[in-house]
Amino acid sequence: MIIAIDGPAASGKGTLGKRLAHHYGYRHLDTGVIYRAVAYELMQSGHDLRDEAAAVQAALELDPEKFGNPALKTQEAGEGASIVSAIPRVREVLVNFQRQFAADPPGAVLDGRDIGTVICPHADVKIFVVADPKVRARRRTMEARARGEEADEAAVLADIIRRDERDKNRPIAPLKPAPDAYLLDNSQLDIEGGVRAAIDIIEAVRAGRLRG
Ligand code: C5P
Repeated sequence: MIIAIDGPAASGKGTLGKRLAHHYGYRHLDTGVIYRAVAYELMQSGHDLRDEAAAVQAALELDPEKFGNPALKTQEAGEGASIVSAIPRVREVLVNFQRQFAADPPGAVLDGRDIGTVICPHADVKIFVVADPKVRARRRTMEARARGEEADEAAVLADIIRRDERDKNRPIAPLKPAPDAYLLDNSQLDIEGGVRAAIDIIEAVRAGRLRG
């Protein structure tokens, strides 16, 4: 089974994806980390984030062993990811890696922006997670502070809004729900509540109670 989770920045997709993968015994891929890793390589080597050749090269040399690097979690890496991910050839290079991950048994949960629309259009269940931008900014700020980083909530909100706009309006693989995705608004839910709501959707699809 393939579970596709998409949604805007800081909507809780990553946490939800991890929890669902654990629940079902599947593997989990946070696809944002891929674009963050490409951006980080460029930043480290002093390249411009819009340097297509350098970005494609970094995508070709992607090393999943480096996905755990805490530097990929920062606002800068997220902002950089949003810039490199709008380069069509970068996305092309990364499609196979993601599809291969999704295809390997026993099942997988992938989260990102275009999983249900481009990477896995035949996913068994598609969930589009949304939350009020202010709620998302609050959560992201708390997370950053918990990691010991300084974070200004208003700046985080501005970053989230800017990133969502760029992700929604790019010509390639824009952020949007697949027509057959289920909307999950977690503005008023805690993590447990969001996980339960997602499991309810998945179980209903599996039982044939919802279109799947
Ligand atoms: O989800 P996360 O904040 O880690 O994603 C960072 C950026 O990577 C996003 O703002 C988006 O531009 C890009 N991204 C993407 N497609 C994905 C996942 C992330 O374009 N599947």
